Amino acid sequence: MLSRWGHYLAGVAWIGLLYYFNFVQTPAFVEFEAGPRTEAFRKLVPRALWWFRWAALFTVVTGLLILGFQEQFDGDYMKSPSGIGISTGVLFGLIMFSNVWLVIWPNQKIVIANAEATAAGREALPNAASAARKAACASRTNTLFSIPLLFFMGFAAHLAPLYETGEGGKRMTYWLVVIVLTALIEVIALMAPSVGKPQSWHIDRHRNTIIAGVVYWAILILLFESLF
Ligand code: HEM
Repeated sequence: MLSRWGHYLAGVAWIGLLYYFNFVQTPAFVEFEAGPRTEAFRKLVPRALWWFRWAALFTVVTGLLILGFQEQFDGDYMKSPSGIGISTGVLFGLIMFSNVWLVIWPNQKIVIANAEATAAGREALPNAASAARKAACASRTNTLFSIPLLFFMGFAAHLAPLYETGEGGKRMTYWLVVIVLTALIEVIALMAPSVGKPQSWHIDRHRNTIIAGVVYWAILILLFESLF
């Protein structure tokens, strides 16, 4: 229960900040004048990113603790609809966590260093714009994944017990589709995004990202429905 409580608190902080970045901060910064934007990148963004990345770590650690304390976690749990559901959520969670620590944070450090340099009257960093773009693509992709992720977190305990454990072939089909589609979405985010040009419909605007997240959720639940 303590792991769950910690998991909800950290998850709220992580995904809350993710939505703040995507739905509030990024669109607002486009309208900022250069001076106040530099100031915000020096004083606001580092604080938000501190909570963001440590909340992501705490969410994963407490999530793994819940799994570790899972009473029904015997050899067959991962084959059950609950186990498949939570594994789907965990797959998204681990990819999102990697995006935070390996893509968003390293690239945002360049953007912050650029703000520090320009504020001190030094030259702007040449790679700052492409770093911002890489971070934004990974951040939008995390927003997309968060939609099915949260469904599958709750699904494991509250809906999955209504389904029947499918045979090995069906589970294999399920995982094949999930892994291929998820890998495709992630690869699009990581493919060197070019500054100023559209990357892909689903991450070009945050409104599209929300639609894509709901569509991806619908595909996954229909797949679950048809197989189990
Ligand atoms: C790798 C990362 C994650 C892991 C390993 C993980 C693991 C888990 C596990 C094992 C459960 C218990 C499922 C059950 O009831 O059987 C759970 C529940 C939950 N998780 Fe996660 N999780 C992760 C990421 C997230 C994220 C990013 C959020 C976002 C807020 C989240 C929100 C929740 C919520 C709200 C529940 C409660 C579901 C319920 O009981 O209704 N999790 N998680």
